[in-house]
Amino acid sequence: MEKGGGLSLTYALSVTILTCAFFLLSFQHAAAIIPEDFKIRQVITDDQNYPTTTASAVNHQHNLLGTATEHKFKSFIQEYSKEYTTREEYIHRLGVFARNLLKAAEHQALDPTAVHGVTQFSDLTEEEFERMYMGVKVVDRATSLLGQGHAPPLEVKGLPESFDWREKGAVTEVKMQGTCGSCWAFSTTGSIEGANFIATGKLLNLSEQQLVDCDHTCDIKDKKACDSGCSGGLMTNAYKYLVEAGGIEEEDSYPYTGKRGDCKFNPDKVVVKVSNFTNIPIDEQQIAAYLVNHGPLAVGLNAVFMQTYIGGVSCPLICGKRWINHGVLLVGYGSKGFSILRLSNQPYWIIKNSWGKRWGEHGYYKLCRGHGMCGMNTMVSAVMTQTS
Ligand SMILES: *[C@@H]1O[C@H](CO)[C@@H](O)[C@H](O)[C@H]1NC(C)=O
Ligand SMILES: *[C@@H]1O[C@H](CO)[C@@H](O)[C@H](O)[C@H]1NC(C)=O
Repeated sequence: MEKGGGLSLTYALSVTILTCAFFLLSFQHAAAIIPEDFKIRQVITDDQNYPTTTASAVNHQHNLLGTATEHKFKSFIQEYSKEYTTREEYIHRLGVFARNLLKAAEHQALDPTAVHGVTQFSDLTEEEFERMYMGVKVVDRATSLLGQGHAPPLEVKGLPESFDWREKGAVTEVKMQGTCGSCWAFSTTGSIEGANFIATGKLLNLSEQQLVDCDHTCDIKDKKACDSGCSGGLMTNAYKYLVEAGGIEEEDSYPYTGKRGDCKFNPDKVVVKVSNFTNIPIDEQQIAAYLVNHGPLAVGLNAVFMQTYIGGVSCPLICGKRWINHGVLLVGYGSKGFSILRLSNQPYWIIKNSWGKRWGEHGYYKLCRGHGMCGMNTMVSAVMTQTS
């Protein structure tokens, strides 16, 4: 392939796959996740409501019956239409819920400019959370992306103070990956939807399922890091697949099932062709310049604080930059992120997630800008489309 030389430089930087935090978080509870009248705002603000606080005490789950924690648990069950079939399951989930209240309180302490609390994930165990990291092979991305294969620097003077591709019509509705570790596919389609809108003026929903079913592209450096449907993948591998496959179908012609199936890609139904992609430098000014000049960007980040995120600008004191496990879409930035708890302003990125509209701020995450927060600057890529 003629483009090979230029492209291989770019892929060679990818050394792992994203396993998508949501997959295992939601695994057993997907059906319970989406009540229509979602409105929960249970913010953890004091300690008195916690059970006797130590983790081992939480194991004596019967102690929780009749407490304020159980009361909160009951409203959680109602808000999210949870169903537990047995009394044992109820008591077990109550114990898990109590631990997750502590975790949300920890996140709140570490991330005071955001609001953390009860989310649809609050009844999932530590083990269920941990399992989301399975399959990540190499996590030393921060350094591996430095130095080569980057796009040329852009002028950063005169960038707008705030910017939002949603206002310009370049962003489709928030989607729902469901019980499938396919965040990487949603991040990929989001960036192509944006690039295509900018090139043609038409906003199309593009097919994640084509990527889930058909893209088995492996990383050039790590042959075991292949895009593998609901078990994870990388946006840059997906771009490479699409360049080679000839393009991507629309959502309607290749709809999302949330399960890996046989590849049903039909080249006659391609609506957008992908010609190339590039990694963006880790400099957040450059990221802003590429965002404004190029379109929404595919981004990898560490999703740990997203598990309990309710709203506000997330700016954790500690968030591992090398533990990139989730693929999302950068769509804009703002300069005046009002912080509920500190009454202060905080510049932030606007990030589209794929956990449905009821997660976070109508499906979006605000992450503070200028600190390489949660590694958001280490795996950023832009895609080029080709109109035929
Ligand atoms: C994309 O799909 C969603 C959900 O089906 C729909 O509401 C929306 O109108 C579609 N957007 C476009 C641009 O077709
Ligand atoms: C693809 O992008 C890279 C930059 O990442 C560039 O070096 C290369 O020339 C591009 N290839 C084509 C065919 O445009």
